[in-house]
Amino acid sequence: VTRPAHASERSLAPRADFPTLRECVYADTASFGIVPEPVRRCVAEFAELRGPGTALFDEAVERSLCDQARASVARLIGAEERDVALMNSATEAIGQLAWSCMPGPEANVVSIDHEFPSVTYPWLQVARRTGAEVRLANAAADPASFSIDRLAELVDERTAAICLSHVHYYTGVRLDLAELAGLAHAVGALLVIDATQSAGAVPIDVAESEIDALVSSAYKWLCGIGGAAFCFMREEVWRRLDPPFAGWRSTQETALIDATQIRLADAARRMEYQTPAHIPLRGLAASAGYVLELGVDRIYTHNTGLAARFIEGVLELGGTVVSPREEPLDSSIVTVAFPTRSEAELIHALGRRRVVFAARREGLRFSWHMFNEVGDVERVLGIMRGVLERA
Ligand SMILES: Cc1ncc(COP(=O)(O)O)c(C=O)c1O
Repeated sequence: VTRPAHASERSLAPRADFPTLRECVYADTASFGIVPEPVRRCVAEFAELRGPGTALFDEAVERSLCDQARASVARLIGAEERDVALMNSATEAIGQLAWSCMPGPEANVVSIDHEFPSVTYPWLQVARRTGAEVRLANAAADPASFSIDRLAELVDERTAAICLSHVHYYTGVRLDLAELAGLAHAVGALLVIDATQSAGAVPIDVAESEIDALVSSAYKWLCGIGGAAFCFMREEVWRRLDPPFAGWRSTQETALIDATQIRLADAARRMEYQTPAHIPLRGLAASAGYVLELGVDRIYTHNTGLAARFIEGVLELGGTVVSPREEPLDSSIVTVAFPTRSEAELIHALGRRRVVFAARREGLRFSWHMFNEVGDVERVLGIMRGVLERA
């Protein structure tokens, strides 16, 4: 995948698919993606079909919905459909993985201290029960200094799992998945990746990078709606891990409805224990299809081109960039900081001019996606310049 020399004049996705863009500059996909019109229509039509119950929405329709969602996800991350489970949230998926893995009192789990909480909490909660140790690499004080070497210092032969985000929700740091897999597998640990901030924006190939488990929610870079997510597990992993929950959907033949014994499905979907959230799932299938049609490689090139131009502009204005600037550590998320005195004014001015972004911790987080164009970036920089010149 190549990085462009210049940020693209035009958006990659048709702007007409995102009517909100007539009213605002949207730079907040890291919080919530905006749903493309074709996806929104697809979800609305599906809701109509779902309304009259089994008269229209029978088991075959439901099965085909799940199959479509699994097929889209599998294409997106280079997996087999059989190795994909459909979930309601990324948090649920990591929770299930942590409880399945259930590291014991002698074991440890490695992550980072400023991860998104859903990456560490499930392990901290399991550790309360089992006495396992959760080791968090120190990165909060100086996010730019973080490297995989820092993580490696915490890993030993008692490490049961390494659990991290592919792209960090705040700094935008993107980690090298193959390198992480090498680190985990050298000690026989499981590598669990949260791709909620990358799936749909950064190319992922789970087979090539030898990841054990990878989860993502649907409502950020995939531009779906909340309530759907997926969990990929390598075959050896779903066979080995015992799901913490079981229900009528966990079984090989759900139609059998046999309450006397559990025959877990011979696939990752053994983790699916309940009726799925049909409407968000339709959104996931459609939005993954939308992203695949544009091409994740092209989206990555487009987005990082915009991010690079934004970084250049912020540095010219005297701002600092919390996110690293060079490949392979970059992504579409850029968090910037300005002298505190100007920051409140910047937040106010950007909000008044309808720029949607996230004020997080001490920084302003901007996330650029397929529907953005260089004009959006210049508009934000222009508003910032106006405020800073007055300050
Ligand atoms: C890295 C990461 N994981 C998980 C989540 C939350 O996902 P969900 O709401 O599906 O549990 C977020 C939301 O910001 C996130 O940034």
